[in-house]
Amino acid sequence: MNRATRFWRSTVGKKIVMAVSGIIMIGFLILHAAGNLQIFESSAKLNTYSAFLHGPANELLWVVRIVLFVAVIAHIVSAYQLTMLDRAARPVPYAQKKLQAATIGSRTMRVGGVLLALFIVLHILHFTTLTLQPAPMAAGDVYGNAIASFRIWWVTAFYVIAMIALGLHLYHGAWSSARTLGFEQGHSDPFHRPVAVTLAVLIWAGFTIVPVAVFFHWIS
Ligand code: HEM
Repeated sequence: MNRATRFWRSTVGKKIVMAVSGIIMIGFLILHAAGNLQIFESSAKLNTYSAFLHGPANELLWVVRIVLFVAVIAHIVSAYQLTMLDRAARPVPYAQKKLQAATIGSRTMRVGGVLLALFIVLHILHFTTLTLQPAPMAAGDVYGNAIASFRIWWVTAFYVIAMIALGLHLYHGAWSSARTLGFEQGHSDPFHRPVAVTLAVLIWAGFTIVPVAVFFHWIS
């Protein structure tokens, strides 16, 4: 067995793969949320940014897409295998479950992860391929597409709910990755996780403000 296979077969190896792939996705989310916030500047600013990504920076965009795709698959496969190992280690559930340092984030990691995977698929079909058009949308007009979509209450509600799931997932995930990689100590008080809380709140707010602002006509 070579070193890579031995690493992947170990529980610690899978946890490290989960942590590193999670951190890669957090990096993408920060850039994506920052890009989206240009909607508050002007329609030209956002559409020019999108045209730049799809034009001169297209090769870079493809590199990002491939890295993200690999990260998502690695994250899902390691999460699934860790869940299976966890179940195999304790086929009979605890009579009384006493979780250490459990938060709503940690208790909803699996269901939240599945919801987020579903969100990503629907989101790409919505904004990237324009396959799902809750309102008429046009290629190249990201600004117009966002305005048309988020004026619809159920589209905004869907995104707002998905971003709550994202925030909770990030809160536990960021802390857990930091612990796996040894940056953070295992503190049992959920409020003693400044980096995880700051990251989760900033990313959640950075995304949520866009559909909410469009829906309430703060931008038009
Ligand atoms: C309110 C929240 C969000 C809004 C308003 C939003 C908006 C957008 C828009 C407008 C695009 C198309 C950009 C373009 O074609 O130039 C896009 C693409 C994308 N978004 Fe989001 N996004 C949000 C949240 C997220 C989240 C949470 C994720 C990941 C978990 C995500 C992942 C992606 C991906 C993977 C693409 C495709 C990029 C590509 O390959 O071209 N988005 N988003």
